Amino acid sequence: MNFVLRNIGQLATCPPDNQQSDAGLISNAAVVIEGDRVAWSGPESQLSSAHRSLRAFDCDGRLMVPGLVDCHTHLCFAGWRAEEFTARNMGKGYMALQAEGGGIGSTVDATRSASKTVLFDRALEVLDEMLQLGVTTVECKSGYGLDRENEIKQLEVYAQLRESHPVRLLPTYLGAHVVPREFENKREAYVQLICETVLPEIAERQLAEFCDVFLESNAFRCDEARHILTRAKALGLGLKIHADQLSNGRGAALAAELGACSADHLEYADAEGIAALASASVVAVSLPLASLYLHERFLPAREFMDAGVRVAVATDFNPGSAPSFHLPLAMTLAAIHQSMSPAEVLMGATTVAAQALGLQDRVGSLVEGYAADLALIGAINLDHWIYHLRPNACCAVMRGGQWVVGGNQESRVVC
Ligand code: NIG
Ligand code: FE
Repeated sequence: MNFVLRNIGQLATCPPDNQQSDAGLISNAAVVIEGDRVAWSGPESQLSSAHRSLRAFDCDGRLMVPGLVDCHTHLCFAGWRAEEFTARNMGKGYMALQAEGGGIGSTVDATRSASKTVLFDRALEVLDEMLQLGVTTVECKSGYGLDRENEIKQLEVYAQLRESHPVRLLPTYLGAHVVPREFENKREAYVQLICETVLPEIAERQLAEFCDVFLESNAFRCDEARHILTRAKALGLGLKIHADQLSNGRGAALAAELGACSADHLEYADAEGIAALASASVVAVSLPLASLYLHERFLPAREFMDAGVRVAVATDFNPGSAPSFHLPLAMTLAAIHQSMSPAEVLMGATTVAAQALGLQDRVGSLVEGYAADLALIGAINLDHWIYHLRPNACCAVMRGGQWVVGGNQESRVVC
């Protein structure tokens, strides 16, 4: 059905080709929706007479942004690790906790023991809450099963969620998260299992869009990551890397070498790594919640942007380093700790995040032809939204031309 959204106080169109500092803001705007797409957006004064006669929703002078894109999450897991949060706040390190049997390994134990139904129900609840925050696209990693059966189990949960939830899901295979305990002294055999057994099955069954590797001293080495990702690329998967999070492991350079869609974390990337990302147009995904929870440095986003790298902002939602899926909170943290302007932050959580998922030609912008995914925000403008962090400022959400939060049959968008 076709209709027009009117009386938008400020519209952020976030065109994909804009500089990251230019969110394509339009005051007193209107957006025309045809089916599941945006047919037109611009100043309300320029609405055509044909569009003026369409059924209209009054947006009450609020801010409208593209549906937010969370391009890095570990959505499916069982159990929590609150005791590690407290231990870290008392001075214990993330690596030390992993060495003692906590960390990723303990979530692997819990996730292996959980049924698909339990994992599905938990993830569904989180997706419901993410949608309420205005998030309409989510990348979701496996990586808490590690063995074939349990990695496939997580990816099958995502396949089921894709069928049953309005949020657009992009699954990623992260079998190379850490070496599982049962392969402790035979890591080559685990890399071989990934490359020869699990990856081909995942590609064949189209269970994942991307393959990711955690490149770090407690996880996988650079040569192992190259081997796994090269295999994944040959099988047609897009590439992502958890790179240079806790130390400089030359992950940024590897992402550039292999033509990855994104390199994520990057807190310890150096000038050489940043230059490599720029020359290969790899998106840098910043994860400020992980920096906050780990008492770690934040991404020096200005250095990246000045070098010509686009910087996405995502949550990294997981039970260890980032146990929150609040993307607007991550955006405000990025503004404060990564010295990003509200426009840079919003572009980072919409079109640039879509680019990290290879979706920038149809998702993350409110311009003609793009998916009618949008969020109406109870704020007078973008600056005010990012500054005045409310528990949830989002009052209505549209996904593919349908109201999925708020909205109604009347002519007003009811929030
Ligand atoms: O992105 N760095 C590796 N993986 C996650 C942490 C996962 C966990 O602690 O369970 C991250 O920070
Ligand atoms: Fe992560």
